[in-house]
Amino acid sequence: MSLATFRHQVLSWYKGNKRDLPWRKTTQPYKILISEVMLQQTQVGRVIPYYLRFLKKYPTIRSLARARKRTLLRLWSGLGYNSRALRLKELAIKVLKDGKKIPSTYRGLTLLPGIGPYTANAILAFSYNREVPVIDTNIRRVFIHELRLRENIPIVRLQIIAQRAIPKGKSRLWHNALMDYGAMEKTARETGIKPLSSQTPFKGSDRMIRGEIMKRLLSRTTTSFSALKKSFPEKDITKIVRKMEQGSLLRIKCREILLP
Ligand code: ADE
Repeated sequence: MSLATFRHQVLSWYKGNKRDLPWRKTTQPYKILISEVMLQQTQVGRVIPYYLRFLKKYPTIRSLARARKRTLLRLWSGLGYNSRALRLKELAIKVLKDGKKIPSTYRGLTLLPGIGPYTANAILAFSYNREVPVIDTNIRRVFIHELRLRENIPIVRLQIIAQRAIPKGKSRLWHNALMDYGAMEKTARETGIKPLSSQTPFKGSDRMIRGEIMKRLLSRTTTSFSALKKSFPEKDITKIVRKMEQGSLLRIKCREILLP
């Protein structure tokens, strides 16, 4: 299929099928950034209520910079990968210190905590309508399927093709369309194309234990090594808790474990 046909197919499908997502009602870099960080490793349907609550509580970068860590963690609780929430606060502080505005360049964005190459390009496209390739799992699958590419195509080659595919002046629209087309029409089941990396199992993982520790701290503000060891005898609780302490997710005081 030619790129022109491909563009036409995706955009005409999108006209009749677009999802109404809250972060599509704005182009404010701050709001787009929050949505993209929440959408890292997390499904759209799960993110929506968290996104709305988060922006109600922290409507500006200034309010986020001043956020209490424990309030932030409470608001994030259930989304997973809680350190993302704390990194957002660090990001807000850094942005205010550096120049008060969220950067509009790839380099500026990737220098911020929690912002990798994918998220930087997503912010550039969705906020600034910049013609940069945004390739998440869904979009990669769409390209491979529709353009009959090899599943092991190197990411740099895919980026070149994805760059050429962007319709002039329509990067935002195009990437929204590609995301919906991939998520709703060309699913992994439909195409048989597997994601490059998939999440490791949650049950019994350190990630699950970290979530459980956070849940206990948020519901009764304190827990202890002994209680946790009793609940999870097969886990290295000391190691997990110390690591969370290093990431500022909690504090340890006289062997008591507390919120930060
Ligand atoms: N996944 C990552 N970014 C997204 C977005 N802007 N819309 C829908 N799904 C996404």
